[in-house]
Amino acid sequence: MLDHTLPLLAQGYAWLPDLTRRKGPGPVRTRLMGKPAIALRGPQAVSFFYDENHVRRRTALPEPILSTLFGKGAVHTLDGEEHRRRKAMFVSALKDATAVTVLAERVAEEWDRAAKEWAGRSQATLFDEVSLLLTRAVCAWAGVPLTGHPSDRHPSDRHPSDQHPDDAARQTAQDLVAMVDGFATAGPRHWKARSARKRQEERLARLIEEVRSAGHEPSDAPSVVEAVAAHREADGRLLDPRTAAVEVLNVLRPTVAVTWFTVFGAHALHRHPALRERLATAGDGYARAFAHEVRRFYPFAPFVAGLAPSDLEWQGEHIAEGSMILLDLYGQNHDPGLWKAPYRFDPERFDGREPGRDELVPQGGGDASAGHRCPGEDVTLAVLTTLLPRLARLDYRVPEQDLRIPLHRVPTRPRSGFVITDVR
Ligand code: HEM
Repeated sequence: MLDHTLPLLAQGYAWLPDLTRRKGPGPVRTRLMGKPAIALRGPQAVSFFYDENHVRRRTALPEPILSTLFGKGAVHTLDGEEHRRRKAMFVSALKDATAVTVLAERVAEEWDRAAKEWAGRSQATLFDEVSLLLTRAVCAWAGVPLTGHPSDRHPSDRHPSDQHPDDAARQTAQDLVAMVDGFATAGPRHWKARSARKRQEERLARLIEEVRSAGHEPSDAPSVVEAVAAHREADGRLLDPRTAAVEVLNVLRPTVAVTWFTVFGAHALHRHPALRERLATAGDGYARAFAHEVRRFYPFAPFVAGLAPSDLEWQGEHIAEGSMILLDLYGQNHDPGLWKAPYRFDPERFDGREPGRDELVPQGGGDASAGHRCPGEDVTLAVLTTLLPRLARLDYRVPEQDLRIPLHRVPTRPRSGFVITDVR
């Protein structure tokens, strides 16, 4: 069987759906990175995939993904008790309703401030603006100062305006975006992602050391930085500063990545202007339905993967030990067996109805505390339900531009970054 690593890189989101179409019903077998691979989808596949006896993560992620997207030693790469303990730290920081509300309030303030500023300009590129305002909000919330101290930069990047906090915010936003943007390519975006990660890990490792040496009493509501700095592994040891930096970044980076969904929301409003009025005036229920549909419809995380620790059986199919098992997130979110007219953007499908746990899977499936499901879904939904109605209420024009969303690019976005003019 042909190794499909190169077709995957070349075809992006179209790779698995194409294979599925060509190979017919049932799980798709292929080869990836020199290993036999099988791709599954559907709620039963989600239960199978998130059973720890079926999928291990430790050696599943290749170095280029760790050195850009997740970081070495990240929670994503842990199994068993080690994973549960580290994961509990994320769950208590990110599933706390008060903390999520405080973050959403900061996001709202940053948007309101930025939107006033766009009104004074000839144009604004939504992708860049949203990533910047989310960076400011999440860094303040997580306890990461954006001071722009010269030592925050690699010597080769220093320039005279380094001290200005606006510069530090911009640099951080660009770095957080670069880490996501460059993980699935071998070109220049990838090298940008690696240097962005290196710069931010070094800076945050220093911050962790500073926080530890300040020796404050643990508070009842620690910031993310304080929680990570104080976290102890099963053997009682603190995380080494670099791994602690990796985990702080595992909160900052994906929060800023909600930019992708926000810009997709702008794209949806542009394509379906009839939905704008309702989103602008409706309460939380419709905003949440809209956010769910943005997460379902638009392409972001294509699949998640792990390795079979032993010979397994899935619905009569043999999976050999060491095989790669993929859960096809994008495919499941567009499976006609699960969604009526899956390629129609229709928030009504979630109106008055929350999706089942293993049905809508843009951020993984299963139980977030027990398995690897994303612990940031509450944050993602809070940010989207804060920003999308504000966007719907904003008066702006969408000039002629390239709004195509290329499916071969992972992650993808409207090519122009979504430019708006005449903001009022
Ligand atoms: C932008 C929207 C987001 C998307 C599309 C997304 C997607 C995902 C996916 C697909 C996974 C992997 C699930 C698996 O391995 O089975 C994941 C894990 C994770 N996400 Fe998110 N996520 C998003 C937002 C967030 C946010 C806002 C945070 C934190 C504030 C976050 C923190 C994490 C962490 C820490 C993990 C690792 C969990 C583990 O391995 O146990 N994510 N996310």
